[in-house]
Amino acid sequence: MFKLGILGVGDLTEKMVRGFLRGGLPVEVYLSPGNHEKAQGLARDAACRVMPDNQAVVDHADIVLIGVRPAQLPDLARDLVIRPEQKLISVVSGVSLGELQQLFGTKACVRAMLSYAAEINRSTVAIYPDDLSARALLRTLGNLIALGSENEFELATVSACMNGWFYFLLHDLQHWLIEKGLSSDRARELVLSSIEDCVAYARYRDSLPIRDLGRSIATDGTFSAQGLEMLGLHQANAAWNAACEVVFDALLTGVE
Ligand SMILES: NC(=O)c1ccc[n+]([C@@H]2O[C@H](COP(=O)([O-])OP(=O)(O)OC[C@H]3O[C@@H](n4cnc5c(N)ncnc54)[C@H](OP(=O)(O)O)[C@@H]3O)[C@@H](O)[C@H]2O)c1
Repeated sequence: MFKLGILGVGDLTEKMVRGFLRGGLPVEVYLSPGNHEKAQGLARDAACRVMPDNQAVVDHADIVLIGVRPAQLPDLARDLVIRPEQKLISVVSGVSLGELQQLFGTKACVRAMLSYAAEINRSTVAIYPDDLSARALLRTLGNLIALGSENEFELATVSACMNGWFYFLLHDLQHWLIEKGLSSDRARELVLSSIEDCVAYARYRDSLPIRDLGRSIATDGTFSAQGLEMLGLHQANAAWNAACEVVFDALLTGVE
């Protein structure tokens, strides 16, 4: 049985807890009292208990998940007593392992990065450093990828941001179809199904570079090639690269 403490019941950690429960993980969850509404919502499940204060969460848990915003960390860490054998897993973006270790006075820290698909056990789960107990817990939430260095982990964070941007791209594509006459439901289904095709086939043909898969579709004279040329003229991919660069810089300089 995992005894899991949550410090900071927010948008992400709430979904992670729902994913643990949905995935059938044998877990007892101790919630910090902060966000009353979210914590009470989770506490309707027998496996979750809202504790009177943060120290009580830590005292009951073997693994503590930290899900506050970066600026809230110093306040959270103040006066908290962590047992030496306790594992801290932080989902706080842009706060390094060294900073976590200093704030909480323990070496036993792991960083993790997930998406909202944790709620349905389909998230990318990046962790650093690799750690057996973090793996055992977090693999319930999706596709676990252990990164080899903190720099790689920050790159995984940029990739987690791409997940957020994809929604806007899908929205725009859906709405183009709607403007041309498709119903919202049909347009949504077509766009989502199309990107699922793409991911599934790229996984199936995993020995081929992804660009080669695109090139095999957008061959000379095809409609796909015609559209691709227009994307190139608008430097559509350059905008995505610029977005990645700005986030990576901010992560390395600790600015959110
Ligand atoms: N959301 C995402 O998609 C996402 C993805 C990857 C990583 N992250 C990272 O996950 C972290 C949380 O993001 P979020 O969007 O889930 O934020 P959020 O919804 O604001 O959640 C933070 C929660 O922490 C609580 N809290 C703040 N200080 C506390 C304290 N001292 N003791 C106990 N609880 C405290 C807040 O409660 P009150 O509201 O009562 O203050 C709030 O419910 C961030 O560091 C972010 O970088 C988020």
